[in-house]
Amino acid sequence: MTDRPAEKPAAEKPPADKPPAEKPARYPGRAPDELAASRLVGSAGHRRPMPCPRSRILGTGGYAPERVLTNQELERLVDTTDEWITTRTGIKRRHIAADGETSSDMAAAAARQALAAAGLTAADLDLIIVGTISPDHPVPGCAVHLQRKLGAHDIPAFDIAAACAGFIYGLNIADQFVATGAARCVLVVGVELLSAKLNWEDRTTCVLFGDGAGAAILGPADWRLQPSGREGPPAAVDQPAGILSSMIFTDGSQTGALQIPAGGSADPPTLEALKEGRLKVHMHGKDVFRTAVRNLVASSAQTLKAAGLTTKNLDWIVAHQANLRIIKGVATRLRYPLEKFVINIDRFGNTSSASIPIALDEAVRDGRIQPGHTVLMCALGAGISWGAAVVRM
Ligand code: COA
Repeated sequence: MTDRPAEKPAAEKPPADKPPAEKPARYPGRAPDELAASRLVGSAGHRRPMPCPRSRILGTGGYAPERVLTNQELERLVDTTDEWITTRTGIKRRHIAADGETSSDMAAAAARQALAAAGLTAADLDLIIVGTISPDHPVPGCAVHLQRKLGAHDIPAFDIAAACAGFIYGLNIADQFVATGAARCVLVVGVELLSAKLNWEDRTTCVLFGDGAGAAILGPADWRLQPSGREGPPAAVDQPAGILSSMIFTDGSQTGALQIPAGGSADPPTLEALKEGRLKVHMHGKDVFRTAVRNLVASSAQTLKAAGLTTKNLDWIVAHQANLRIIKGVATRLRYPLEKFVINIDRFGNTSSASIPIALDEAVRDGRIQPGHTVLMCALGAGISWGAAVVRM
């Protein structure tokens, strides 16, 4: 006798050539006419006369590697000081991925949390979008590895290389997939393993960045999930939750301000490029700083206007965590109190596309951001690419 469970008889397994059973239609796509009538759609985003959400955030997740690198440790690596890093950036420490840990590993950890928070499983997903500039491999994309690790079925999965704006780009795209009915349940992830893309002898960049992942699950705004994850009747609420507006932008005239110069078709990954450090991040910090404050403020104001709101209607702002001085500049120009910004740059550094979803998830989990709160998110990075989103949680 053995206590090993007996294998199921082969006859019970579905034949290999039988297509997998179709998922039950949880949310029938809305007719295009109905969508067109319910909102105005602009070229750069959604321009609506009033908030009219079409997708909402059902759950969030975040992940940071165990290893923490402090400013004091960096003092021993490059010619810098804790005082310089703290006063110029607000960063005290950052997380660094373990040897062998990949971007898709981190993305999977954050995604599983977000799915659990939404009461869903990978089988519920219709689409995976990953914002990253540090995928596991140049080809295929990080989203492909993530799909496999989550055990999601044959759904589309792709990356967006919009650097620090990657998560906002992902939200914007996911919202439109949900709006057209092409997808009901979308996983949007921002993940970066930038420690592998840094020149650890360049003090102007290596002190700034960190590794991590954040995720959000989006579904139709009127798709109400009960705590069990089962679909319930749409709730009758005056102010429905969802993405009220989102806008994304790119200015390709500033490609040199922040880039990894080599490794692509213009400058292939040669031994020479490797020796000269051209396979690592290069940044003209001062130029990016000025552009960041200006564009974050402008896009935030435009996105709020598109939602028919002002900063007075906001409960929180989650701005990209690149530099505390940039966040303070945005707060001053938007005339919005710094205390109402979600700030974690001191503990994470700049995690690029992961920065907004990590901060969002932290604030949701510790109860600062509550259901019904209106949150503005804004980010800017290499490209220069930037954008903003106004979301009612
Ligand atoms: N430690 C000590 N000194 C440093 C240093 C470091 N880690 N890095 C730079 N310095 C020095 C510079 O060499 C320079 O010295 P010099 O005056 O003798 O030439 C001095 O500090 C000032 O450098 P500067 O680049 O003018 O500093 P800054 O105040 O502009 O701060 C950044 C630099 C990178 C922190 C800041 O420009 C920034 O945050 N930029 C935007 C980043 C961003 O938003 N990125 C977009 C998303 S990724």
